[in-house]
Amino acid sequence: MEIKVVSDLQGQECDILVVNQFEGEKTTQELANKYAIEEDKFEGKFGQTYLLPTYGKQKARKILVIGFGKKAEFTPDKLRIATEKALKKAIQMKAKSVAYEYTGVDFDYAEQFTYGVGIANYSFDKYKTKKDDKVETVYVNADEKELRRAEIITKAMKFTRDLANEPAAYATPTKLAEIAQTFGLETKIYDRDECEKMGMGAFTAVSKGSAQPPKFIHIKYTPQNPKKRIAIIGKGLCFDSGGLDLKPPASMLTMRDDMSAGACVLGVMSVIKELAPDVEVNGIIAACENMPGCAAYKPGDVLTAMNGKTIEVDNTDAEGRLTLADALCYAEKLGVDEIIDLATLTGACMVALGTVRSGIVGNDDKFVKDLIKVASDCGEKYWELPMDEEYKESLKSDIADMQNTGSRWGGAQTAGLFLQEFVDKAKWAHIDIAGTAFFEKPQGEFIKGSAGAGVRAMLNYVTKQ
Ligand code: BES
Ligand code: MN
Ligand code: ZN
Repeated sequence: MEIKVVSDLQGQECDILVVNQFEGEKTTQELANKYAIEEDKFEGKFGQTYLLPTYGKQKARKILVIGFGKKAEFTPDKLRIATEKALKKAIQMKAKSVAYEYTGVDFDYAEQFTYGVGIANYSFDKYKTKKDDKVETVYVNADEKELRRAEIITKAMKFTRDLANEPAAYATPTKLAEIAQTFGLETKIYDRDECEKMGMGAFTAVSKGSAQPPKFIHIKYTPQNPKKRIAIIGKGLCFDSGGLDLKPPASMLTMRDDMSAGACVLGVMSVIKELAPDVEVNGIIAACENMPGCAAYKPGDVLTAMNGKTIEVDNTDAEGRLTLADALCYAEKLGVDEIIDLATLTGACMVALGTVRSGIVGNDDKFVKDLIKVASDCGEKYWELPMDEEYKESLKSDIADMQNTGSRWGGAQTAGLFLQEFVDKAKWAHIDIAGTAFFEKPQGEFIKGSAGAGVRAMLNYVTKQ
């Protein structure tokens, strides 16, 4: 989809001209005011739409009125959602070109507008012989610089969504490693032997039951004078069957999504040169599958992570934290200032927060608050979870330094406490995207499948330093 910035939207030939209506106010279009508002009493409640043909009286073939609700309650989030609703409607009408003429909005909407059309125009139709309808051109009058920046971020989101939606048979650890090498960045791929030599006994154990070899991926972006050095780690379980503690069918069904955070890291790194932030960004993925093959790691095994700490395997389905443990140690060894890890880590986080908000914990209050704020400004919702010391007890093992599962109650925070054992000096935040990365049914602006969680927040975070 191409976004064109034009000032004369009225004079723009297109299939649909979208105009907004705040409750109790008029639109810029006489036709809409006469038929929708006066005759049909269209109120302009938030998200309501009204479509009317122009019968050649105007350059646009149809006018779509989108309700913006009460002006006093209008927000950038609402603008994005309304934009998405209008675009979905346009797709339903098989429109190819859509012009948006927004008036009376008292904030700069280039960013949210761009996310809106990009998210709504997405579908995963690679494997369909008949492709889905899409809008090809969008016209808008908005700040071009901000719009182009948001367009790059939206491109990264699409990249991430495409990759996370792929079947596990395609998106293997080897494939992720291949993709990582296409960005023209300094990239290191460590195979199983090298990981073992580095002491990554937790990560390599998880991969043992699979025929797919593990790949530890490190992609590095270095600007001229980096203001700080950041590592972004993404859980990269290309498939999580649960391992020997096998998941039941309903839980296993969507487990190709367990590399969503890894796909997020790849999406972020795919556009980092274009956005050119002033910070060093290290994208890290410990990619593997969790399978119950005959060489699989077993409950009761004792693993040694890269920092020397030993872990008793209580449940082979708590594999994500094992892969992250070694990834965190690796990031610490790089000596970065900040580490952010993203992971589809716990069902408990989904139970606690649902599928709208991701959970966040960390070791530095300001760092966590900054991330929550950046995320919220670009349309991602995070919620801070506690990490209560009381739960540390539940991670104790009789034979090793710790076990890989803690208390079931508070399962998202016990996972956080486990991860913290592998963090040393860096500021660290852990974002659990189990509920927000991949939807089992359409949710808001998102269709079923990957939502590209983390991409907007991470790219805005690194560019706004
Ligand atoms: N990948 C899952 C978590 C998950 C669940 C992600 C649902 C997305 C949707 C993770 O590896 C897992 O299996 N976690 C277990 C941990 C438990 C064994 C302590 C869980 O949450 O049940
Ligand atoms: Mn698991
Ligand atoms: Zn998992």
